[in-house]
Amino acid sequence: MNPAGISLQSVDAGYDHGHVLQGLSFSVEPGEMVALLGRNGSGKTTALKTIMGILRAQSGRIEFSDIDITDKATYKIAGLGIAYVPETRGIFASLSVHEHLTLVGAKSGWSLDRIYDTFPRLAERRSHRGSKLSGGEQQMLAIARALRMGPRLLILDEPTEGLAPVIVEEIATIIEGLKHEGMTMVIVEQNYAFAARIADRIHIIGRGRLRWSGTPAEFDADDEVRFTWLGI
Ligand SMILES: Nc1ncnc2c1ncn2[C@@H]1O[C@H](COP(=O)(O)OP(=O)(O)OP(=O)(O)O)[C@@H](O)[C@H]1O
Ligand SMILES: [Mg+2]
Repeated sequence: MNPAGISLQSVDAGYDHGHVLQGLSFSVEPGEMVALLGRNGSGKTTALKTIMGILRAQSGRIEFSDIDITDKATYKIAGLGIAYVPETRGIFASLSVHEHLTLVGAKSGWSLDRIYDTFPRLAERRSHRGSKLSGGEQQMLAIARALRMGPRLLILDEPTEGLAPVIVEEIATIIEGLKHEGMTMVIVEQNYAFAARIADRIHIIGRGRLRWSGTPAEFDADDEVRFTWLGI
């Protein structure tokens, strides 16, 4: 693996009604695992879509591994090695687990053997259709599919949303394994305990800007920041 970092510098982006991101800046170092936190509607998903070129930055700059990707097309950004697992997961109801995993793949990506080794649940269910998978299995399949592309940066939007605690644990183990191998990761989370446990660093977005950055220990110790920007 050849992990890469990413940085956003004063990025403005949004939808027709105006800017959601208002000078958003943050960075993720190669091999670092960052949790992106913030209230509903603060701009977390918008930031991820802007990184991927799904939304265009109106100003500012985004660099991945020292390459300016601000105005690149989504497929080019993906080709440079950023894999994005959206909240919606994108699993096809009529395709089997195995079909999902064989539809995509890059030379530098994970082999099927490695995928099934890392995700034994997917191995057990390899012939099951997407519609027959639980939410947790769909999430694992979405992550596995991303790894088939051999990403240098893996971005996950709310991977534990709606999942039972036992499945959240399985996903935590998988993410910790990826971190151990040095994968750079950005994870948006509403489950703050989960985020604080697995992240190297936490960035908090509030109303489209970076409001706070620190380690999980600093996050736990800072009641005021948690109350002001997360309401907890
Ligand atoms: N497709 C869209 N068109 C117009 N406005 C949108 C669209 N998607 C999001 N927004 C608005 O942009 C703002 C930021 O939304 P975003 O989805 O980035 O928030 P978020 O931090 O991911 O929130 P959540 O925790 O609910 O997922 C919100 O005010 C939202 O209503
Ligand atoms: Mg979101």
